[in-house]
Amino acid sequence: MEANAPKRKEARKSLRIKVISMGNAEVGKSCIIKRYCEKRFVPKYLATIGIDYGVTKVQVRDREIKVNIFDMAGHPFFYEVRNEFYKDTQGVILVYDVGQKESFDALDAWLAEMKQELGPHGNMDNIVFVVCANKIDCTKHRSVDESEGRLWAESRGFLYFETSAQTGEGINEMFQTFYSAIIDLCDNGGKRPPSSMGVGFTKEQADAIRRIRNSKDSWDMLGVKPGATRPSSSTGRDQQLCGAGCAVITGTDGLTTLSGCP
Ligand code: GTP
Ligand code: MG
Repeated sequence: MEANAPKRKEARKSLRIKVISMGNAEVGKSCIIKRYCEKRFVPKYLATIGIDYGVTKVQVRDREIKVNIFDMAGHPFFYEVRNEFYKDTQGVILVYDVGQKESFDALDAWLAEMKQELGPHGNMDNIVFVVCANKIDCTKHRSVDESEGRLWAESRGFLYFETSAQTGEGINEMFQTFYSAIIDLCDNGGKRPPSSMGVGFTKEQADAIRRIRNSKDSWDMLGVKPGATRPSSSTGRDQQLCGAGCAVITGTDGLTTLSGCP
């Protein structure tokens, strides 16, 4: 072969990946997968018993990938079955129902369950997570708005999509972006590449914002007990810390300002 002959473009190896779905029962995990793989929607609720497994081939950018999907049952009853399936996962579809606040509040517990099952040597930083705020077609009953869901997801470096398995809105876009991010992860030696998106808040700041938004009253909002103050020698103003570790300064005029609070 001539030394200067152009090299034939090497055929890219097809990838094999493992993806799991997580989230409370009835949030729409199985329907999201069915909508993408079978282009249909089943209105009747058929609870997943333990785990459903499927394999599908998809084309993303110039790559063919073989996806092993493990669709988990969300009911606590199936914990013993689920816990076998967390390891060796490259991607997680984390779903909540925008009309069920508890399913959004449960996302932390789902992450904790996975973390516990992966054990002390498991690394969740190198897994691609996509959060699906599902059932956006049910606009009347919406109880978690987009900004709250997006903040939770993006402050953790997760992708965020608003979806409806019923209408199909957001589903293809979500899967394409999700698979694309997994390819980038595999091409980067299994490490999650630095994310280009994000809301500019850390996870702690985002949690504080969420607490403030959900607080009952202004004391709760500040994360302090009613009336508690600590005098500051330098400012002559009362100063204490709010729950997020930010200074809360009470002026002599009775006005309260948050210093450095997200
Ligand atoms: P488990 O398998 O028990 O963990 O539940 P799941 O999260 O897999 O829920 P599933 O996909 O079975 O959907 C639960 C119910 O919600 C079914 O009645 C679906 O028809 C309905 N559903 C799912 N997605 C949507 C959606 O986007 N919009 C509406 N309106 N209903 C949906
Ligand atoms: Mg299911």
